[in-house]
Amino acid sequence: MAATPQSRILGTGHYLPDVIRSNFDLEKMVDTTDAWIVERTGIRERRIAPEGMVTSDMATAAAKRALEAAELQASDLDMILVGTVTPDMPMPATAVYVQQKLGAGHCPAMDLSAACAGFIFGLSIADQFVKTGAMKNVLVVGVELLSRVVNWEDRGTCVLFGDGAGAVILGPAGGATARGRARGVLSTRIHTDGALARSLMIPGGGSETPTNADVVEKRLHKVHMRGQDIFKVAVKNLYSASKDALEETGVSASEVDWVCPHQANLRIIDNVVSRLGVPEEKVLLNIEKVGNTSSASIPILLDDNVRSGKIKAGDHVLMCALGAGVSWGGALVTI
Ligand code: UT7
Repeated sequence: MAATPQSRILGTGHYLPDVIRSNFDLEKMVDTTDAWIVERTGIRERRIAPEGMVTSDMATAAAKRALEAAELQASDLDMILVGTVTPDMPMPATAVYVQQKLGAGHCPAMDLSAACAGFIFGLSIADQFVKTGAMKNVLVVGVELLSRVVNWEDRGTCVLFGDGAGAVILGPAGGATARGRARGVLSTRIHTDGALARSLMIPGGGSETPTNADVVEKRLHKVHMRGQDIFKVAVKNLYSASKDALEETGVSASEVDWVCPHQANLRIIDNVVSRLGVPEEKVLLNIEKVGNTSSASIPILLDDNVRSGKIKAGDHVLMCALGAGVSWGGALVTI
């Protein structure tokens, strides 16, 4: 029997830029092929934010849609959490600009740097505040403008990432049920293992290696990844995070209606869900169309499927994500 949830997703939203960069476009930029990218990752195309668009623009667009879906105004927000590793600028937080662009009140607004796990981290933090009654409506955004920080000469990374934003409004669970199930966040668990800190990073531009001409020349201000290190730990930790979420809530794999996993690599997702024993028709995917949008991937996928009517009120949705840090987490939510 699942525990009674104290917080609930009141509305979801997402934003994707219109510009599509396909694998065939990339064939003209680096030594790669559509066949390699599809076979190794499952990605066929990704979205690229146009010049002039910034991270907070995408976050605000997604947030507006989530507010609309929740039937709330920006002034109803008690906190804004933005998961991103591609902020508008190092200081102030991108969440500050989102607050300003939404016209929200003076609620606290901060960024979370947990890379691809940023949305799950945000959801978990928001859940704690709503649970205690300290906050009522919390906006959680996952947003990335990765096209500005990938090295477009490095075929090992540039083929993977895309731009986009997803958002949810978390509020009190109170009484709403569907299909006999209490709607809300049943479990969130978040973890970090710093031993793999240097497997996925942007090494330049911080206090360790401040930006200078040499840093730019060596592309140290761009994404660097040891893909296989991350692949191995993702397969292991996404499985354990998902299993923990099920064990903690007493929801069995067969009771899960949808798995909404971070979209980094189709091979990672297949491996995790087959070990969990969840049939593949219950696994939500959009990696083919949007690539890896890091912290934005889960809320984009969630919103897409809520809006299409595939995910229905009362459905158990299992989420899991892992990224740089390495940081990872799992969540089980009844929509
Ligand atoms: O979301 C955050 C976390 N990120 C992830 O979860 C990513 C995890 N890692 C991965 O998804 C995979 O490791 C990659 C998709 C990044 C790479 O796939 P892989 O099967 O691990 O390939 P690899 O790195 O072992 O490279 C195999 C070969 C190499 O060539 P050699 O040394 O065998 O001649 C690479 O140079 O593939 C080559 N290669 C490419 N070839 C064509 C690497 N990238 C490309 C490319 N096109 N884009």
